[in-house]
Amino acid sequence: MRKKLPTYFYNPFSFSGYSISIISFGLIIFLTIIELLSPETKPYMGIITFIILPFFLVVGIVLSVYGVVRERKRLKKGISRAYLLPLIDLNSPKHRKIAVRFTLGLIFFLLISAFVTYKAYEFTETDEFCGTICHSVMSPEYSAYEFSPHARVKCVECHIGSGAEWYIRSKLSGAYQVYAVLFNTYTKPIETPIVNLRPAQGTCEQCHWPKHFLGEKRREFTYFLSDERNTRWSINLLMKTGGGNIEAGPTSGIHWHMNISYKLMYYPSDRERQDIPWVSAQDTTGKVTIYKNIESDFNFAEMDSTKLRRMDCIDCHNRPSHIYYNPSSSVNLAMVQGWENPDLPFIKSVSVEALEKNYSTKVIALDSISIFVEDFYSSNYPDIFRNNKSDIEAAIKEIQKIYTRNYYPSMGVSWKKFPNNIGHLYYKGCFRCHDGKHVSDDGKVLSRDCNTCHIILAQKFEKDALRISLGGIDYKHPVNIGAAWKNTNCYVCHGVEE
Ligand code: HEC
Ligand code: HEC
Ligand code: HEC
Ligand code: HEC
Ligand code: HEC
Ligand code: HEC
Repeated sequence: MRKKLPTYFYNPFSFSGYSISIISFGLIIFLTIIELLSPETKPYMGIITFIILPFFLVVGIVLSVYGVVRERKRLKKGISRAYLLPLIDLNSPKHRKIAVRFTLGLIFFLLISAFVTYKAYEFTETDEFCGTICHSVMSPEYSAYEFSPHARVKCVECHIGSGAEWYIRSKLSGAYQVYAVLFNTYTKPIETPIVNLRPAQGTCEQCHWPKHFLGEKRREFTYFLSDERNTRWSINLLMKTGGGNIEAGPTSGIHWHMNISYKLMYYPSDRERQDIPWVSAQDTTGKVTIYKNIESDFNFAEMDSTKLRRMDCIDCHNRPSHIYYNPSSSVNLAMVQGWENPDLPFIKSVSVEALEKNYSTKVIALDSISIFVEDFYSSNYPDIFRNNKSDIEAAIKEIQKIYTRNYYPSMGVSWKKFPNNIGHLYYKGCFRCHDGKHVSDDGKVLSRDCNTCHIILAQKFEKDALRISLGGIDYKHPVNIGAAWKNTNCYVCHGVEE
């Protein structure tokens, strides 16, 4: 046999190296072809195709090079091999048998490895993969997602969408994320907002047609105050969601003004996009109105125009799937449902206080919640503690559940770190712009009038009569704070203490 390459290329180490590289390379090609032929994109497959298999490819190459170098040294020292490869004589029945078995074994091995790789590749598509492989890292996002309206929407449908460009981009950032998890360089909690999240046109709008007219939606909110009686009250809001398409039907409401007939650009002066000193609105005729926060100490001359953002779905619906609820609203819900008995004195404020303490781990938190609530009732209401044991235990269970779903001490995650931009009570939300302080040069103000975005249809306090009007009633704040609710934004008292 004439050798095309110098002899030192032919040695057992290099041969194993060649086979490993060729098999890995073959599998990379195999998966790439499957990917090209399959109708859906399979975004996280890249972890196999672009990280795991190339790793073996590199191992193979290193092994081959090592073999070559070693063999050259041996040759220089004058050690040579009698035979590089085993001699096979197909005339000998024994050799024939070995050759057949070897070939069959090889084919079997190749089929199995193709099958295993294909299975692994399918697994990277599942939500368990996204949510649990990076287990502790993403467990807050995964748990919150499982209880959200989008629990049946795949992670990749919002985070990557379809098409080649974002697919490749996600490959690159995915590779970096695997690195960050392996070497523990990620931030805790994972930072929000995601800087390079795909614009909503490629994700949300694939399912939700932006011009779809949603009309108005009535929502009822029920609350319990922090007093001994847990005073109950409720409010009814008609949300003017709206939307619409001039050619097809009615147009109005929040979606219409904010997303369809206007092109809104805004300038966030912080990373979380919670402080917005500057907004511009371009209407369909091309007229631009600029609103500036007149009380902000922001220097408008310093504005860096590359940081301007075009308002889209995610600027309002930034937590459609990973919602960490505020303790007060979670407890209100548990009490409306009767999971926590509203007849237990102070149960609202005790629950909220138990949730809001700073615990270092989940286990400590769950134990401390139980001790705290029991102590409260045994020392302040010994009778109730003795006679209503089951109510107190049920309440403790419920508080622990709320904690488990909404607080993740190991990742530093809670409602305080993840503002939700829909609304204005617990976070700045709509009042980032609609705070009555954003004014245009010709004196137009972004109004925070209570009937701009919703109509307050009705309010009911325990003892009072129901106040109701289809045209909207005046708001009455549940505790007397004078005119403060008119002048001070709600989140200043209700939100995260700064
Ligand atoms: C309905 C769409 C949707 C689905 C489904 C979805 N996400 Fe998200 N996710 C978002 C949005 C929107 C954000 C916040 C983006 C922003 O503010 O920049 C986000 C943020 C994140 C973040 C950054 C940290 C944070 O909480 O802001 C992680 C990590 C994440 N998602 C993981 C996942 C995982 C894992 C899944 C599947 C189990 C998933 N997402 C499913 C829409 C979605
Ligand atoms: C794969 C399709 C799909 C994608 C992508 C998707 N959604 Fe949804 N979304 C749904 C479905 C289905 C529902 C209705 C769920 C229900 O009512 O049970 C829904 C419901 C909603 C709701 C109403 C939630 C509620 O509380 O009733 C909002 C708001 C929403 N989506 C916003 C978004 C945003 C923002 C994005 C992009 C980050 C997005 N969706 C991406 C399918 C999708
Ligand atoms: C200016 C902020 C804002 C923007 C931008 C925005 N929305 Fe909304 N959207 C709202 C509000 C407010 C509601 C009503 C919320 C409620 O009922 O609690 C809503 C409601 C919805 C609902 C639920 C409707 C229903 O009746 O159940 C869906 C779905 C939705 N939006 C999707 C989208 C999509 C998709 C986009 C991007 C094309 C978008 N929104 C852009 C503020 C916004
Ligand atoms: C980035 C700043 C910004 C944020 C955040 C914002 N808006 Fe707006 N909004 C505007 C601007 C600017 C206009 C006025 C457009 C014009 O008429 O010049 C507007 C107009 C509106 C209008 C029409 C008002 C009218 O007088 O008819 C509604 C309704 C509305 N917004 C609802 C909302 C809701 C609900 C939210 C929160 C979910 C929200 N907006 C968040 C900037 C914002
Ligand atoms: C710029 C639009 C806008 C204006 C102005 C506005 N709201 Fe709201 N408000 C919202 C949106 C959007 C929600 C829905 C939050 C949600 O879906 O959870 C909301 C929710 C609420 C809630 C229920 C909050 C909760 O989560 O329990 C109350 C109460 C409320 N608004 C009162 C008021 C009062 C009082 C005013 C006048 C000072 C006002 N709003 C002005 C947009 C607005
Ligand atoms: C000066 C501080 C202050 C301002 C400003 C304020 N509130 Fe309140 N709010 C309170 C206090 C105090 C309570 C009673 C809390 C309790 O008993 O648990 C309360 C209770 C509430 C509750 C019941 C809360 C819950 O979680 O059960 C709602 C809803 C509410 N306020 C709405 C609003 C709205 C809407 C605005 C803005 C338009 C607003 N508040 C502005 C101080 C304030």
